[in-house]
Amino acid sequence: MSAQALRISDTASQSGASITLNTVTRSFGALRVLEGIDLTIEPGSFVAIVGQSGSGKSTLLRIIAGLDADYGGRVLIEKNHVPAVARIMYQEPRLLPWATVIGNVAVGLGPDVESKFALTRARRALDAVGLGDRAADWPAILSGGQKQRVALARTLVSKPDLLVLDEPLGALDALTRIGMQSLLEQVWREEGFTALLVTHDVTEALTLADRIVLIEEGRIALDIDVPFERPRRRGAVQFGALEEQLLSTLLKTSPRTEEYVI
Ligand SMILES: Nc1ncnc2c1ncn2[C@@H]1O[C@H](COP(=O)(O)OP(=O)(O)O)[C@@H](O)[C@H]1O
Ligand SMILES: [Mg+2]
Repeated sequence: MSAQALRISDTASQSGASITLNTVTRSFGALRVLEGIDLTIEPGSFVAIVGQSGSGKSTLLRIIAGLDADYGGRVLIEKNHVPAVARIMYQEPRLLPWATVIGNVAVGLGPDVESKFALTRARRALDAVGLGDRAADWPAILSGGQKQRVALARTLVSKPDLLVLDEPLGALDALTRIGMQSLLEQVWREEGFTALLVTHDVTEALTLADRIVLIEEGRIALDIDVPFERPRRRGAVQFGALEEQLLSTLLKTSPRTEEYVI
């Protein structure tokens, strides 16, 4: 996948948003999903969140993205001491079938989608994800990977300080997924936003993130730095020990006995 090294905005986000969570809790009726999350994330860093299905990852992401205000505790998403712009991307591209590719991207800028400014920015965002030549197409004729690239362009067009990604590559085939991982890393480096990625894929987390936070039943069970230089080679031998630590916690197995007790 070749994407042009082109910034969507003339001035890249300086360093992204900082995230501060103090004892964040969330319940749905009697079900307590987040049990008091304390988390501080540095501006401009790339953090992966892993955890079993139902552990509270999406609930946490929605709170951080500002889509759910019904939580306990304190959440601060700031850049230079003012509230930051956050955007979210999901596993499904959620494109509008009645709008062209460029129209779908311009939607990310709000109501003024027809303005020359909006279309210029949308065009640049499409170039950045390698789809500049598909601007006039309808979403229905794109592949799954291309649709996700349009969804990525739609989040980038508003120059977010924080990009929250809820398993955005989960439905893609293995090769498309690897291409998208490179693209995500590339735009993150070029644009300077803070990235928070939920993934089931431990190798993906190790390839992309500076830090991996493992959530277990609404609590942080593991919080590790990923010290390897970029660009990283997928499945590198050096991943071994961290991969083992993450998988054994995820699968509740002792690294010594290898007995899975899920
Ligand atoms: N809107 C909701 N109403 C009721 N229960 C919910 C709601 N959203 C999430 N839950 C429950 O909260 C738990 C955590 O969900 P979620 O955060 O989506 O997990 P994950 O993303 O880690 O798979 C699950 O038991 C889920 O059923
Ligand atoms: Mg989820």
